[in-house]
Amino acid sequence: MATQTDVGIGKKKACVVGGSGFVASLLVKLLLEKGYAVNATVRDPGNQKKILHLLQLQPLGELKIFGADLTKEGSFDAPITGCDLVFHVATPVNFASEDPENDMIKPAIQGVLNVLNACAKAKTVKRVVLTSSAAAVSINTLSGTGLVVDEENWSDIEFLTTQKPPTWGYPVSKTLAEKTAWKFAEEHNIDLVTVIPSLMAGPSLTPDIPSSVGMATCLLSGNEFLINSIKGMQMLSGSISISHVEDVCRAHVFLAEKESASGRYICCAVNTSVPELAKFLSNKYPHYKVPTDFGDFPSKAKLVMSSEKLTKEGFSFKYGIEEIYEETVAYLKNKGLL
Ligand SMILES: NC(=O)c1ccc[n+]([C@@H]2O[C@H](COP(=O)([O-])OP(=O)(O)OC[C@H]3O[C@@H](n4cnc5c(N)ncnc54)[C@H](OP(=O)(O)O)[C@@H]3O)[C@@H](O)[C@H]2O)c1
Repeated sequence: MATQTDVGIGKKKACVVGGSGFVASLLVKLLLEKGYAVNATVRDPGNQKKILHLLQLQPLGELKIFGADLTKEGSFDAPITGCDLVFHVATPVNFASEDPENDMIKPAIQGVLNVLNACAKAKTVKRVVLTSSAAAVSINTLSGTGLVVDEENWSDIEFLTTQKPPTWGYPVSKTLAEKTAWKFAEEHNIDLVTVIPSLMAGPSLTPDIPSSVGMATCLLSGNEFLINSIKGMQMLSGSISISHVEDVCRAHVFLAEKESASGRYICCAVNTSVPELAKFLSNKYPHYKVPTDFGDFPSKAKLVMSSEKLTKEGFSFKYGIEEIYEETVAYLKNKGLL
């Protein structure tokens, strides 16, 4: 493969796979603002309602939209041809699925293979950045508090597939998809970097409110179902770890451009627990009546997700817990939802 320094010459072209999503649409915006030409893939380019927020980015620069599906072989060949960078952000998400194997696990793996095959064929791609997840890293059967999770860790597939805790299909799909990517990259000499974000909040360009924003703000909205979901998240993943979506997108671009970057990078600004987060939000937003009595629910998180490798590489987070919530609350208020 060519070296990363070549990316700096001339008009750089990046493909963003799954361009209409919460993370990807902001990533497209940042790339256009940095002067990249961008090919964004969406499943249904004819659905104007679903891609309007992407079309609205076109005045920022050279943005082309392609139709492509993770499960369709060859569908990424055209958008990836001639690209210097590829960001594989898309993933099938269906937490309520009764068939996670076919709804999430198989298509996520197939998607990685289809995207990376297109990268190998293109011969112009200098680096691929894959969006993985904390769900691929932090799920284990250890107990205690104060565990530190870093890039050496992988979620325990054996535990997830035998015990099948609620939402098990998503962490399995993210773990196996990332492992598949590493295997393919090694076999085909692809320069791959993976970004491992935690739960994301912050304003979204998408027409709908992203489910992760709903989860991050459920203690303010009082949505009981989502409060139970984040309690489940703490029990399964070991913590409530949160980042601002813009920081996660900035980390994608940073790692794509940083020549020395290699391997996996956890990207997580804040590590907390449901009771600690509730206390913080209750103090900051007293008028929202945030619940603070969680009975015998663990008040401390089991673990912290360490972003030390990312910050040592030179990345700085722009948003801490205060700013993440200030921006997210302002965004939801603006939508009339808080
Ligand atoms: N949001 C978070 O808190 C969070 C945390 C950790 C990691 N992540 C990771 O970040 C990435 C982006 O997440 P997000 O929150 O932005 O999700 P999102 O808004 O739901 O976007 C997911 C994207 O995947 C695309 N997709 C799903 N199935 C597809 C298929 N079969 N073929 C092609 N595209 C398909 C969707 O396309 P359509 O628009 O066509 O449906 C959508 O653009 C994912 O890899 C996710 O695992 C997210």
